[in-house]
Amino acid sequence: MAKIGKAAAQQRIEFLKKELERHNHNYYVLNAPTITDFEFDLLMGELQGLEKLYPEFATEDSPTRHVGSDLTSGAAGTDFVQVPHRWPMLSLGNTYAREELFEFDERIRKAAGVPYTYSCELKFDGTAICLTYRDGRLLRALTRGDGTKGDDVTRNVVNIPAIPRILHGTGIPREFEIRGEIYMPFAAFERLNAEREEAGLEPFANPRNAASGSLKLQNPEEMRTRGLDCVLYHLLGEDLPFKTHIEALQAASGWGLPISEYSLHADGIDAAWDYITAWDTRRKTLPFATDGIVIKVNELELQRQLGFTAKSPRWATAWKFKPEQACTPLLSVDYQVGRTGAVTPVANLEPVLLSGTVVKRASLHNKDQMDLLDIHIGDYVYVEKGGEIIPKITGVDLSRRPEGALRPAFPERCPDCGATLVRDEDEARHYCPNREHCPVQIKGRFIHFASRKAMDILAGDATVEALYNKGYIRTLPDLYALTREQLTGLDGWQEKSADNFLASLDASRKVPFERVLYALGIRHVGEQTAKMLARHFGSIDALMAASEEELLQLEDIGQTVAGSILEWAASPEGRDTVERLRAAGLRFEIDAADTQRLSETLDGKTIVISGNFSISREAMKALIEAHGGKNAGSVSGKTSFLLAGEKAGPEKLRKAEKLGIPVLSETDFNNLVEKES
Ligand code: IVH
Repeated sequence: MAKIGKAAAQQRIEFLKKELERHNHNYYVLNAPTITDFEFDLLMGELQGLEKLYPEFATEDSPTRHVGSDLTSGAAGTDFVQVPHRWPMLSLGNTYAREELFEFDERIRKAAGVPYTYSCELKFDGTAICLTYRDGRLLRALTRGDGTKGDDVTRNVVNIPAIPRILHGTGIPREFEIRGEIYMPFAAFERLNAEREEAGLEPFANPRNAASGSLKLQNPEEMRTRGLDCVLYHLLGEDLPFKTHIEALQAASGWGLPISEYSLHADGIDAAWDYITAWDTRRKTLPFATDGIVIKVNELELQRQLGFTAKSPRWATAWKFKPEQACTPLLSVDYQVGRTGAVTPVANLEPVLLSGTVVKRASLHNKDQMDLLDIHIGDYVYVEKGGEIIPKITGVDLSRRPEGALRPAFPERCPDCGATLVRDEDEARHYCPNREHCPVQIKGRFIHFASRKAMDILAGDATVEALYNKGYIRTLPDLYALTREQLTGLDGWQEKSADNFLASLDASRKVPFERVLYALGIRHVGEQTAKMLARHFGSIDALMAASEEELLQLEDIGQTVAGSILEWAASPEGRDTVERLRAAGLRFEIDAADTQRLSETLDGKTIVISGNFSISREAMKALIEAHGGKNAGSVSGKTSFLLAGEKAGPEKLRKAEKLGIPVLSETDFNNLVEKES
């Protein structure tokens, strides 16, 4: 690009922004473009070039950062707009057992009555994305979100080179959705983590977290440096002309969309099984993470016939790979204090490659676990990756224990504040009891409070550390008393960062009660429990007034959780926190608008659930409520039906039978709500 003076550049940038917005409006809103795509892209290219040359003129609202005029960013540019999915974004049923896979095939055979084939695909371990193309252009990119609505991450996705903004070729439907996975290849992951560690940031646990974290970056430009890739595996639309899934994907590939090169068209379950066994080994040579194989019925008519359950298609299933193991020497053990004071032993390992990433640390859970494994420093230990953030140690190779190896001594005092550790009678964990003054615990509470799933305040580890060191924050409500002057006085903080922070603090006043409750960090009250408690009690006052019996009556609340809630509710610290946060404007009551409605199918119905389902009991209850139903704990004359999962309680079943109350299986239930919604 020719060099151009600053003043002229600013003028030209303003002109191009307006011009592009006008064309966007013509295109997306009026559906009447006045220039060709090629001309549009030339203007866009020019604007991108100028913004790069003069970043001081590149604003958040530039068309280079948005696709389509219907997209706006959230409060203070800190959030993404949520958009409903046109078709729900579901997950997949999965299995680790060969028999179950053949049973899946058996079910399909019975339903089909005609010959059918399978598409066998790698299960890419990234984060799901849903792209909408209209008139051959990328209109929008949504994350899976909660399955019914997703975050609009278009402004970030346009910076992933693998995703075309404009399609080419023939037969492109006027509008369609294509779904797939955004993932981070191992090489990019290792590079990113090395950079993060150098910058003093927490490294990502795995490429999948790195991919989803990157997708939510507030600075879209940063996306380009992250080396993300994309593969698409599911085409959706109205009246699409394809008869098979594979044919549809091949067409998409012809339009320039990235499709996996590793898929197989299998003529039956035996061929699918061969594919699985071959890839169980071969996947280790891939430059990106996979966590299984997906088997899909290829014929679209049969897919339609088979349909969906409430959470996954009946025409597809995932074969999950068993976690891999590695064996490596144990170098030392660190003791980490969490925000609740729990002390977790963490093993430092000789770095070892496990499922494609280098593992240096692993959890040892607690002292009992260390004793059980009889772990010694220098031991060769087996590590596995579970669902947790850090891998875990599952065993010791005793035959390789070095002579004179010593057991690591579990500390008696808190490694942070020196308080004598205590051990709860009924728990295997050691705790630092110095809740009020132990610095790690205080900082941990703020980090938890500010986290995305809680209050979503722009305060990571470094900010909390800085605010704490200055003595500005000790108890949670202190956050809401922070001043602009205090913030701009922090090292490296400019006016803009202070304003963004204050805006996010302000936005947190609208966070629904269930998240506020979770944010309080009451021991044993995780996200799901907080949600359930918020729904059950409706307000903090009702929860704080609850008796032990009342709490114990709730499903999934045992002695430990109830005890922890009661202790918190009775503590001056708990009461003071709530009162001051309430005064700061936080929400301590549930709002009807917080719970999303899926249908009215169960309006006026009272349902009792019993046993285990394919989703958690909490999720099942939320589903019932989302369809308008009410959950009740015991079967009575008022019960509309008993929803019985696996191992349903015989008492409840007998009572339902006695009272003549219908008993529905999970499948019956799914059919009921699907038909109606
Ligand atoms: S098909 C309704 N195909 O795995 C169809 N999913 O555990 C559902 N995934 O949500 C998706 N590779 O994010 C499909 N080849 C593949 C996949 C794949 C990875 C992800 C996807 C899905 C999750 C289910």
